[in-house]
Amino acid sequence: MRAAVFASGSGSNFQALLDRQDDLGAYGIVLLLSDRQDAGALERARKAGVPGRVVPVKGRPPEETAAEMLAVLEEYAVEVIFLAGYLRLVPPQVVRAFPRRILNIHPALLPAFGGKGMWGHHVHQAVLATGAAVTGPTVHFVEEEYDTGPILAQWPVPVRAGDTPDTLAARVLRVEHLLYPLAASHLCRALREGRPPEPLRPPGECFAVLEAHDGSSLVRQIARALGLASLCPFPRFP
Ligand code: GRF
Repeated sequence: MRAAVFASGSGSNFQALLDRQDDLGAYGIVLLLSDRQDAGALERARKAGVPGRVVPVKGRPPEETAAEMLAVLEEYAVEVIFLAGYLRLVPPQVVRAFPRRILNIHPALLPAFGGKGMWGHHVHQAVLATGAAVTGPTVHFVEEEYDTGPILAQWPVPVRAGDTPDTLAARVLRVEHLLYPLAASHLCRALREGRPPEPLRPPGECFAVLEAHDGSSLVRQIARALGLASLCPFPRFP
């Protein structure tokens, strides 16, 4: 499937999607779209030979932004969109033109810690302030409001004593990079086959199927990324 990635920031998730596209074989990134000329993701796109386009949002009538976005997406024959740290609301015209074909990754377990203003360190600060024991990334479909669409995949990540927003963000990000390419490829396979994708649940059967595709165990990869000898995806209680 021809994919566009939307990013406003450094684009490490864009990089993770790029790095896995060949071995997953379900999507190919044909466009990086940003609202900011100085987004680090644009530089990553340049290095990878992926066309990068800036569609400014600030200070423009929303319909004008939406029309420009739709024209660019059409130019590249885009079939699916992955948001990777895109800090703007996707215009409703674009959401309607790509029904159940836009994914976002959020660095907490939605529906907690989502919504307007909940991005970057604000999310991890809020998680720490509540004393939550578990956090982790969510991949969900994009609707017309922030962080509201159905959830496609989540993975729990422990909050540790002494965590700061920085240490927590780094731990969650390592798992984002493993989870997002798999969830993106899972959606694209389902679209290809003309069926709705089943939600991915750790360590459910869908993940087992995906693991078989590339021959490595996601559970093992995530345990390694978190520095654990093994992974119990949910906390054990005595
Ligand atoms: C990630 O934490 C993602 O969950 C959120 O924005 C951040 C983007 O980071 N939506 P990066 O630009 O991909 O490094």
